[in-house]
Amino acid sequence: MNILILGAGGREHTFAWKLKQSPKLNNLFVAPGNAGTAEIAKNIPIGVNDFEAIKELVLSEAINMVVVGPEDPLVNGVHDFFLNDAAIKHIPVIGPEKAAAELEGSKDFAKQFMMRHNIPTAAYESFTKDNLEEGYAFLESLKAPYVLKADGLAAGKGVLILQDLQEAKDELKEMLVGAKFGNASTTVVIEEFLDGIELSVFVLTDGENYKVLPTAKDYKRIGEGDTGLNTGGMGAISPVPFADDVFMTKIHDRVVKPTVEGLKKDNLPYKGFIFIGLIKVANEPLVIEYNVRMGDPETEVVLPRVKNDLVEVFEAVAAQKLNEIDLQLDDRTATTVMTVSGGYPEAYEKGKEITGIENVSNESIVFQAGTTLKDGKVVTNGGRVLAVTSFGTNFKEALKTSYKNLDNIAFEGVYYRKDLGFDL
Ligand code: AMP
Ligand code: GLY
Repeated sequence: MNILILGAGGREHTFAWKLKQSPKLNNLFVAPGNAGTAEIAKNIPIGVNDFEAIKELVLSEAINMVVVGPEDPLVNGVHDFFLNDAAIKHIPVIGPEKAAAELEGSKDFAKQFMMRHNIPTAAYESFTKDNLEEGYAFLESLKAPYVLKADGLAAGKGVLILQDLQEAKDELKEMLVGAKFGNASTTVVIEEFLDGIELSVFVLTDGENYKVLPTAKDYKRIGEGDTGLNTGGMGAISPVPFADDVFMTKIHDRVVKPTVEGLKKDNLPYKGFIFIGLIKVANEPLVIEYNVRMGDPETEVVLPRVKNDLVEVFEAVAAQKLNEIDLQLDDRTATTVMTVSGGYPEAYEKGKEITGIENVSNESIVFQAGTTLKDGKVVTNGGRVLAVTSFGTNFKEALKTSYKNLDNIAFEGVYYRKDLGFDL
Protein backbone atom coordinates (compact mmCIF):
# COMPACT_ATOMS: atom_id res chain seq x y z
CA MET A 1 0.00 0.00 0.00
CA ASN A 2 1.08 3.52 -0.79
CA ILE A 3 -0.73 5.97 1.46
CA LEU A 4 -1.09 9.75 1.42
CA ILE A 5 -1.97 11.66 4.59
CA LEU A 6 -3.34 15.19 4.20
CA GLY A 7 -2.38 17.66 6.92
CA ALA A 8 0.57 19.06 8.84
CA GLY A 9 -0.05 18.76 12.58
CA GLY A 10 0.62 16.49 15.51
CA ARG A 11 -2.45 14.50 14.48
CA GLU A 12 -0.93 13.76 11.09
CA HIS A 13 2.47 12.90 12.58
CA THR A 14 0.65 10.41 14.82
CA PHE A 15 -1.20 8.89 11.85
CA ALA A 16 2.12 8.59 10.01
CA TRP A 17 3.81 6.99 13.03
CA LYS A 18 1.00 4.46 13.39
CA LEU A 19 0.64 3.59 9.69
CA LYS A 20 4.42 3.22 9.43
CA GLN A 21 4.25 0.25 11.83
CA SER A 22 2.18 -1.76 9.37
CA PRO A 23 3.90 -4.46 7.31
CA LYS A 24 1.32 -3.65 4.64
CA LEU A 25 2.70 -0.15 4.13
CA ASN A 26 5.00 0.48 1.23
CA ASN A 27 5.43 4.23 0.63
CA LEU A 28 4.03 6.93 2.90
CA PHE A 29 3.45 10.53 1.80
CA VAL A 30 2.27 13.52 3.82
CA ALA A 31 1.02 16.74 2.24
CA PRO A 32 2.26 19.15 3.36
CA GLY A 33 3.60 17.51 6.57
CA ASN A 34 6.13 18.86 9.10
CA ALA A 35 9.67 18.11 10.29
CA GLY A 36 8.37 15.09 12.22
CA THR A 37 6.64 13.48 9.27
CA ALA A 38 9.71 14.21 7.12
CA GLU A 39 11.64 11.69 9.24
CA ILE A 40 9.30 8.80 8.51
CA ALA A 41 7.53 9.71 5.27
CA LYS A 42 7.98 11.84 2.17
CA ASN A 43 6.59 15.35 2.60
CA ILE A 44 5.00 16.89 -0.48
CA PRO A 45 4.62 20.68 -0.45
CA ILE A 46 1.01 20.93 -1.59
CA GLY A 47 -1.94 22.34 0.31
CA VAL A 48 -4.75 20.17 1.69
CA ASN A 49 -7.32 22.04 -0.43
CA ASP A 50 -5.43 21.84 -3.72
CA PHE A 51 -7.45 18.91 -5.05
CA GLU A 52 -5.99 19.00 -8.57
CA ALA A 53 -2.43 18.80 -7.22
CA ILE A 54 -3.49 15.99 -4.88
CA LYS A 55 -4.91 14.07 -7.84
CA GLU A 56 -1.66 14.47 -9.80
CA LEU A 57 0.34 13.26 -6.82
CA VAL A 58 -1.94 10.26 -6.29
CA LEU A 59 -1.53 9.25 -9.93
CA SER A 60 2.21 9.90 -10.22
CA GLU A 61 3.09 8.07 -6.98
CA ALA A 62 0.55 5.24 -7.42
CA ILE A 63 -1.10 6.07 -4.10
CA ASN A 64 -3.71 3.51 -3.00
CA MET A 65 -5.39 5.36 -0.14
CA VAL A 66 -5.84 8.92 1.13
CA VAL A 67 -6.25 9.67 4.84
CA VAL A 68 -7.62 13.15 5.53
CA GLY A 69 -6.46 14.83 8.77
CA PRO A 70 -8.21 18.23 9.02
CA GLU A 71 -11.84 19.23 8.43
CA ASP A 72 -11.33 21.85 5.71
CA PRO A 73 -10.78 19.54 2.74
CA LEU A 74 -13.64 17.30 3.91
CA VAL A 75 -16.08 20.20 4.18
CA ASN A 76 -14.80 21.36 0.77
CA GLY A 77 -15.59 17.93 -0.69
CA VAL A 78 -12.27 16.18 -1.21
CA HIS A 79 -13.94 12.78 -0.94
CA ASP A 80 -16.56 13.75 -3.55
CA PHE A 81 -13.79 15.11 -5.80
CA PHE A 82 -12.26 11.63 -5.88
CA LEU A 83 -15.59 9.87 -6.45
CA ASN A 84 -16.43 12.19 -9.35
CA ASP A 85 -13.20 11.63 -11.26
CA ALA A 86 -12.91 8.40 -13.25
CA ALA A 87 -9.11 8.35 -12.89
CA ILE A 88 -9.17 8.27 -9.07
CA LYS A 89 -12.66 7.18 -8.04
CA HIS A 90 -11.41 3.72 -7.04
CA ILE A 91 -8.97 5.15 -4.49
CA PRO A 92 -10.40 5.04 -0.97
CA VAL A 93 -10.54 8.27 0.98
CA ILE A 94 -10.75 8.02 4.77
CA GLY A 95 -13.07 10.87 5.70
CA PRO A 96 -16.76 11.59 5.05
CA GLU A 97 -18.28 12.96 1.86
CA LYS A 98 -19.20 16.63 1.73
CA ALA A 99 -22.87 16.16 2.66
CA ALA A 100 -21.89 14.33 5.85
CA ALA A 101 -19.00 16.71 6.63
CA GLU A 102 -21.68 19.36 7.18
CA LEU A 103 -21.93 17.88 10.68
CA GLU A 104 -18.85 20.00 11.35
CA GLY A 105 -19.26 22.53 8.51
CA SER A 106 -22.57 23.82 9.85
CA LYS A 107 -23.55 23.93 13.52
CA ASP A 108 -27.18 24.49 12.50
CA PHE A 109 -27.06 21.34 10.34
CA ALA A 110 -25.56 19.41 13.26
CA LYS A 111 -28.25 20.65 15.67
CA GLN A 112 -31.02 19.70 13.24
CA PHE A 113 -29.43 16.26 12.84
CA MET A 114 -29.40 15.76 16.62
CA MET A 115 -33.01 16.91 16.97
CA ARG A 116 -34.13 14.62 14.14
CA HIS A 117 -32.47 11.60 15.73
CA ASN A 118 -33.25 12.36 19.36
CA ILE A 119 -29.62 12.80 20.33
CA PRO A 120 -29.32 14.74 23.60
CA THR A 121 -27.94 18.27 23.15
CA ALA A 122 -28.50 21.81 24.45
CA ALA A 123 -31.74 23.59 23.47
CA TYR A 124 -31.10 26.09 20.68
CA GLU A 125 -32.41 28.36 17.95
CA SER A 126 -30.72 29.66 14.82
CA PHE A 127 -30.84 33.22 13.50
CA THR A 128 -29.79 35.28 10.47
CA LYS A 129 -29.69 39.04 10.04
CA ASP A 130 -33.30 38.90 8.86
CA ASN A 131 -34.56 37.86 12.28
CA LEU A 132 -32.09 39.62 14.53
CA GLU A 133 -34.88 40.97 16.74
CA GLU A 134 -36.09 37.42 17.39
CA GLY A 135 -32.51 36.56 18.30
CA TYR A 136 -32.53 39.32 20.92
CA ALA A 137 -35.85 38.00 22.27
CA PHE A 138 -34.43 34.46 22.45
CA LEU A 139 -31.40 35.74 24.38
CA GLU A 140 -33.78 37.50 26.81
CA SER A 141 -35.56 34.20 27.40
CA LEU A 142 -32.28 32.51 28.46
CA LYS A 143 -30.21 32.80 31.60
CA ALA A 144 -26.54 33.85 31.56
CA PRO A 145 -24.05 32.76 30.36
CA TYR A 146 -25.07 33.08 26.72
CA VAL A 147 -23.60 30.75 24.10
CA LEU A 148 -23.30 32.13 20.53
CA LYS A 149 -21.92 29.94 17.77
CA ALA A 150 -21.02 30.96 14.24
CA ASP A 151 -22.68 28.37 12.02
CA GLY A 152 -19.69 27.74 9.71
CA LEU A 153 -16.01 26.88 10.11
CA ALA A 154 -14.18 29.62 12.00
CA ALA A 155 -10.86 27.93 12.81
CA GLY A 156 -12.06 27.04 16.31
CA LYS A 157 -12.81 30.67 17.19
CA GLY A 158 -16.52 30.82 16.34
CA VAL A 159 -17.96 30.09 19.80
CA LEU A 160 -18.55 32.98 22.22
CA ILE A 161 -19.64 32.50 25.82
CA LEU A 162 -20.81 35.77 27.38
CA GLN A 163 -21.99 36.68 30.86
CA ASP A 164 -23.79 39.91 30.05
CA LEU A 165 -27.09 40.08 28.12
CA GLN A 166 -26.31 43.38 26.41
CA GLU A 167 -22.89 42.14 25.40
CA ALA A 168 -24.48 38.98 23.99
CA LYS A 169 -26.90 41.09 21.93
CA ASP A 170 -24.07 43.29 20.66
CA GLU A 171 -22.00 40.25 19.69
CA LEU A 172 -24.98 38.64 17.97
CA LYS A 173 -25.38 41.77 15.84
CA GLU A 174 -21.63 41.90 15.19
CA MET A 175 -21.70 38.27 14.00
CA LEU A 176 -24.83 38.55 11.83
CA VAL A 177 -24.68 42.11 10.53
CA GLY A 178 -20.99 42.93 11.02
CA ALA A 179 -19.86 39.55 9.60
CA LYS A 180 -17.49 39.09 12.56
CA PHE A 181 -16.55 35.63 11.28
CA GLY A 182 -17.18 36.39 7.59
CA ASN A 183 -19.57 33.98 5.88
CA ALA A 184 -19.23 31.59 8.82
CA SER A 185 -21.49 33.85 10.90
CA THR A 186 -24.23 34.47 8.31
CA THR A 187 -26.20 32.13 10.58
CA VAL A 188 -25.69 32.02 14.35
CA VAL A 189 -26.78 29.24 16.69
CA ILE A 190 -27.77 30.45 20.17
CA GLU A 191 -27.67 27.69 22.72
CA GLU A 192 -28.58 26.99 26.29
CA PHE A 193 -25.43 26.96 28.44
CA LEU A 194 -24.54 23.54 29.83
CA ASP A 195 -22.58 23.30 33.04
CA GLY A 196 -20.55 20.13 33.39
CA ILE A 197 -17.30 18.35 32.60
CA GLU A 198 -16.32 17.72 28.98
CA LEU A 199 -14.94 14.63 27.31
CA SER A 200 -14.71 13.35 23.77
CA VAL A 201 -15.49 10.02 22.24
CA PHE A 202 -14.15 8.91 18.88
CA VAL A 203 -15.92 6.59 16.50
CA LEU A 204 -14.64 5.05 13.29
CA THR A 205 -17.37 4.04 10.84
CA ASP A 206 -17.56 2.55 7.36
CA GLY A 207 -21.13 3.83 7.00
CA GLU A 208 -22.60 0.50 8.06
CA ASN A 209 -20.49 -0.76 10.95
CA TYR A 210 -18.57 1.17 13.56
CA LYS A 211 -15.98 0.86 16.30
CA VAL A 212 -15.86 3.03 19.40
CA LEU A 213 -12.29 4.19 19.95
CA PRO A 214 -10.88 5.31 23.31
CA THR A 215 -12.28 8.40 25.05
CA ALA A 216 -10.07 11.43 25.62
CA LYS A 217 -10.12 14.70 27.44
CA ASP A 218 -8.49 17.75 25.91
CA TYR A 219 -7.26 20.85 27.76
CA LYS A 220 -8.14 23.80 25.55
CA ARG A 221 -7.22 26.87 27.59
CA ILE A 222 -3.72 28.32 27.51
CA GLY A 223 -3.50 28.89 31.27
CA GLU A 224 -3.32 26.52 34.22
CA GLY A 225 -6.62 25.79 35.94
CA ASP A 226 -8.34 26.21 32.55
CA THR A 227 -7.89 29.97 32.42
CA GLY A 228 -7.05 32.40 29.62
CA LEU A 229 -7.62 32.14 25.90
CA ASN A 230 -8.73 29.09 23.97
CA THR A 231 -6.10 27.20 22.00
CA GLY A 232 -6.16 24.26 19.62
CA GLY A 233 -5.47 22.05 22.65
CA MET A 234 -2.68 22.00 25.25
CA GLY A 235 -2.70 18.32 26.05
CA ALA A 236 -4.90 15.28 26.41
CA ILE A 237 -5.56 12.23 28.55
CA SER A 238 -7.01 8.87 27.47
CA PRO A 239 -9.04 7.15 28.81
CA VAL A 240 -11.13 9.65 30.75
CA PRO A 241 -11.31 8.30 34.32
CA PHE A 242 -14.92 9.37 34.98
CA ALA A 243 -16.20 7.67 31.82
CA ASP A 244 -16.98 4.40 33.59
CA ASP A 245 -18.89 1.48 32.07
CA VAL A 246 -22.31 2.81 33.08
CA PHE A 247 -21.62 6.21 31.57
CA MET A 248 -20.08 4.69 28.43
CA THR A 249 -23.19 2.57 27.94
CA LYS A 250 -25.29 5.74 28.05
CA ILE A 251 -22.98 7.40 25.53
CA HIS A 252 -23.19 4.38 23.29
CA ASP A 253 -26.97 3.92 23.42
CA ARG A 254 -28.03 7.55 23.37
CA VAL A 255 -25.36 9.13 21.21
CA VAL A 256 -23.06 6.82 19.23
CA LYS A 257 -25.64 4.36 17.92
CA PRO A 258 -28.26 6.97 16.96
CA THR A 259 -25.53 9.04 15.30
CA VAL A 260 -24.33 6.23 13.02
CA GLU A 261 -27.90 5.11 12.34
CA GLY A 262 -28.94 8.72 11.69
CA LEU A 263 -26.20 9.09 9.08
CA LYS A 264 -27.55 6.04 7.30
CA LYS A 265 -31.19 7.12 7.52
CA ASP A 266 -30.32 10.56 6.17
CA ASN A 267 -28.18 9.15 3.34
CA LEU A 268 -25.05 10.88 4.55
CA PRO A 269 -22.12 8.77 3.25
CA TYR A 270 -19.55 8.37 5.99
CA LYS A 271 -16.31 6.45 5.92
CA GLY A 272 -14.11 7.96 8.55
CA PHE A 273 -13.75 9.28 12.07
CA ILE A 274 -16.53 10.94 14.03
CA PHE A 275 -15.31 13.07 16.94
CA ILE A 276 -18.15 13.59 19.39
CA GLY A 277 -17.60 16.41 21.88
CA LEU A 278 -19.68 15.65 24.98
CA ILE A 279 -20.47 17.25 28.28
CA LYS A 280 -21.57 15.35 31.36
CA VAL A 281 -24.41 17.12 33.13
CA ALA A 282 -26.04 15.43 36.15
CA ASN A 283 -24.60 12.09 35.00
CA GLU A 284 -26.08 12.39 31.51
CA PRO A 285 -24.08 12.84 28.27
CA LEU A 286 -25.08 15.72 25.98
CA VAL A 287 -23.48 16.48 22.63
CA ILE A 288 -21.65 19.81 22.39
CA GLU A 289 -20.42 19.31 18.85
CA TYR A 290 -19.48 16.90 16.11
CA ASN A 291 -16.18 17.03 14.25
CA VAL A 292 -15.73 14.94 11.14
CA ARG A 293 -12.10 14.04 11.81
CA MET A 294 -9.86 13.07 14.70
CA GLY A 295 -8.97 15.66 17.32
CA ASP A 296 -5.58 17.22 17.80
CA PRO A 297 -4.02 16.54 20.37
CA GLU A 298 -6.53 13.76 21.15
CA THR A 299 -5.11 11.64 18.31
CA GLU A 300 -1.75 11.69 20.09
CA VAL A 301 -3.29 9.70 22.98
CA VAL A 302 -6.01 7.73 21.17
CA LEU A 303 -4.02 6.12 18.33
CA PRO A 304 -1.10 4.94 20.50
CA ARG A 305 -3.70 2.97 22.51
CA VAL A 306 -4.99 1.15 19.42
CA LYS A 307 -3.01 -2.06 18.98
CA ASN A 308 -4.40 -3.05 15.57
CA ASP A 309 -2.62 -2.60 12.27
CA LEU A 310 -4.10 0.75 11.17
CA VAL A 311 -3.66 -0.03 7.47
CA GLU A 312 -5.81 -3.13 7.96
CA VAL A 313 -8.40 -1.11 9.86
CA PHE A 314 -8.56 1.52 7.09
CA GLU A 315 -8.83 -1.18 4.44
CA ALA A 316 -11.81 -2.56 6.34
CA VAL A 317 -13.38 0.91 6.42
CA ALA A 318 -12.93 1.26 2.66
CA ALA A 319 -14.38 -2.22 1.99
CA GLN A 320 -17.24 -1.64 4.47
CA LYS A 321 -16.05 -4.62 6.48
CA LEU A 322 -15.22 -2.92 9.74
CA ASN A 323 -17.33 -5.58 11.49
CA GLU A 324 -14.52 -8.06 10.69
CA ILE A 325 -11.99 -6.08 12.73
CA ASP A 326 -11.44 -7.06 16.34
CA LEU A 327 -10.37 -3.79 17.92
CA GLN A 328 -7.58 -4.29 20.46
CA LEU A 329 -6.85 -1.48 22.92
CA ASP A 330 -3.99 -0.86 25.31
CA ASP A 331 -5.45 -0.69 28.84
CA ARG A 332 -2.84 1.75 30.03
CA THR A 333 -3.45 5.48 30.24
CA ALA A 334 -1.82 7.72 27.65
CA THR A 335 -1.20 11.42 28.14
CA THR A 336 0.22 14.03 25.86
CA VAL A 337 1.60 17.44 26.77
CA MET A 338 1.70 20.10 24.05
CA THR A 339 4.55 22.59 23.98
CA VAL A 340 3.73 25.92 22.39
CA SER A 341 5.54 29.04 21.19
CA GLY A 342 5.73 31.96 23.64
CA GLY A 343 2.80 34.31 23.04
CA TYR A 344 0.50 31.68 21.52
CA PRO A 345 -2.50 31.77 20.97
CA GLU A 346 -1.81 35.45 20.24
CA ALA A 347 1.18 36.67 18.23
CA TYR A 348 4.31 34.52 18.46
CA GLU A 349 7.59 34.13 16.60
CA LYS A 350 8.60 31.25 14.36
CA GLY A 351 11.93 29.82 13.31
CA LYS A 352 13.33 29.02 16.79
CA GLU A 353 15.68 26.06 16.83
CA ILE A 354 14.38 23.07 18.78
CA THR A 355 17.02 21.05 20.62
CA GLY A 356 17.02 17.83 22.59
CA ILE A 357 14.35 15.81 20.80
CA GLU A 358 16.93 13.04 20.39
CA ASN A 359 17.44 12.96 24.17
CA VAL A 360 13.85 11.97 24.89
CA SER A 361 13.90 8.43 26.25
CA ASN A 362 11.98 5.63 24.60
CA GLU A 363 9.35 5.85 27.36
CA SER A 364 7.88 8.84 25.51
CA ILE A 365 6.94 9.58 21.91
CA VAL A 366 7.43 13.02 20.40
CA PHE A 367 4.76 14.01 17.90
CA GLN A 368 5.69 17.16 16.03
CA ALA A 369 3.10 19.78 15.09
CA GLY A 370 4.28 23.29 14.10
CA THR A 371 7.81 22.39 13.06
CA THR A 372 9.82 22.57 9.87
CA LEU A 373 13.35 21.88 8.69
CA LYS A 374 15.66 24.84 8.09
CA ASP A 375 19.29 24.27 7.09
CA GLY A 376 19.01 20.72 8.40
CA LYS A 377 17.70 21.84 11.80
CA VAL A 378 14.24 21.39 13.29
CA VAL A 379 12.74 24.84 13.97
CA THR A 380 9.39 26.07 15.24
CA ASN A 381 6.84 26.87 12.57
CA GLY A 382 3.56 27.30 14.44
CA GLY A 383 1.88 28.03 17.76
CA ARG A 384 1.60 24.43 18.85
CA VAL A 385 5.08 23.00 18.33
CA LEU A 386 5.27 19.41 19.55
CA ALA A 387 3.49 16.99 21.86
CA VAL A 388 5.11 14.47 24.17
CA THR A 389 3.05 11.31 24.71
CA SER A 390 3.67 8.74 27.44
CA PHE A 391 1.94 5.73 28.96
CA GLY A 392 1.31 4.95 32.63
CA THR A 393 -0.85 2.85 34.89
CA ASN A 394 -2.83 6.05 35.53
CA PHE A 395 -2.72 9.58 34.14
CA LYS A 396 -0.49 10.89 36.91
CA GLU A 397 2.19 8.29 36.18
CA ALA A 398 1.93 8.92 32.46
CA LEU A 399 2.18 12.68 32.92
CA LYS A 400 5.20 12.32 35.17
CA THR A 401 7.03 10.57 32.33
CA SER A 402 5.99 13.20 29.76
CA TYR A 403 7.10 16.06 32.02
CA LYS A 404 10.42 14.34 32.79
CA ASN A 405 11.17 13.93 29.10
CA LEU A 406 10.04 17.45 28.31
CA ASP A 407 12.96 18.70 30.39
CA ASN A 408 15.22 17.55 27.56
CA ILE A 409 13.50 19.67 24.92
CA ALA A 410 14.25 23.36 24.53
CA PHE A 411 13.41 26.25 22.23
CA GLU A 412 13.25 29.96 22.89
CA GLY A 413 9.90 30.88 24.49
CA VAL A 414 8.75 27.28 25.12
CA TYR A 415 5.62 27.01 27.27
CA TYR A 416 3.42 24.12 28.35
CA ARG A 417 0.82 23.50 31.01
CA LYS A 418 2.02 21.63 34.08
CA ASP A 419 -1.42 20.96 35.54
CA LEU A 420 -3.08 18.60 33.07
CA GLY A 421 -5.63 16.38 34.79
CA PHE A 422 -6.11 18.94 37.60
CA ASP A 423 -9.91 18.57 37.31
CA LEU A 424 -10.05 14.77 37.35
P1 AMP B 1 -17.53 23.97 20.06
O1 AMP B 1 -16.70 24.66 18.99
O2 AMP B 1 -18.97 23.80 19.71
O3 AMP B 1 -16.85 22.74 20.57
O4 AMP B 1 -17.47 24.92 21.32
C1 AMP B 1 -16.23 25.26 21.89
C2 AMP B 1 -16.30 25.13 23.38
O5 AMP B 1 -17.31 25.99 23.91
C3 AMP B 1 -16.69 23.75 23.86
O6 AMP B 1 -15.62 22.88 23.93
C4 AMP B 1 -17.26 24.06 25.23
O7 AMP B 1 -16.22 24.23 26.18
C5 AMP B 1 -17.93 25.39 25.02
N1 AMP B 1 -19.36 25.21 24.75
C6 AMP B 1 -19.93 25.04 23.54
N2 AMP B 1 -21.26 24.91 23.66
C7 AMP B 1 -21.55 25.00 24.97
C8 AMP B 1 -22.77 24.96 25.73
N3 AMP B 1 -23.95 24.81 25.16
N4 AMP B 1 -22.66 25.09 27.06
C9 AMP B 1 -21.45 25.25 27.67
N5 AMP B 1 -20.28 25.32 27.01
C10 AMP B 1 -20.33 25.19 25.67
N1 GLY C 1 -8.61 19.36 20.21
C1 GLY C 1 -9.80 19.84 19.64
C2 GLY C 1 -9.93 19.64 18.19
O1 GLY C 1 -9.19 18.91 17.56
O2 GLY C 1 -10.85 20.21 17.62
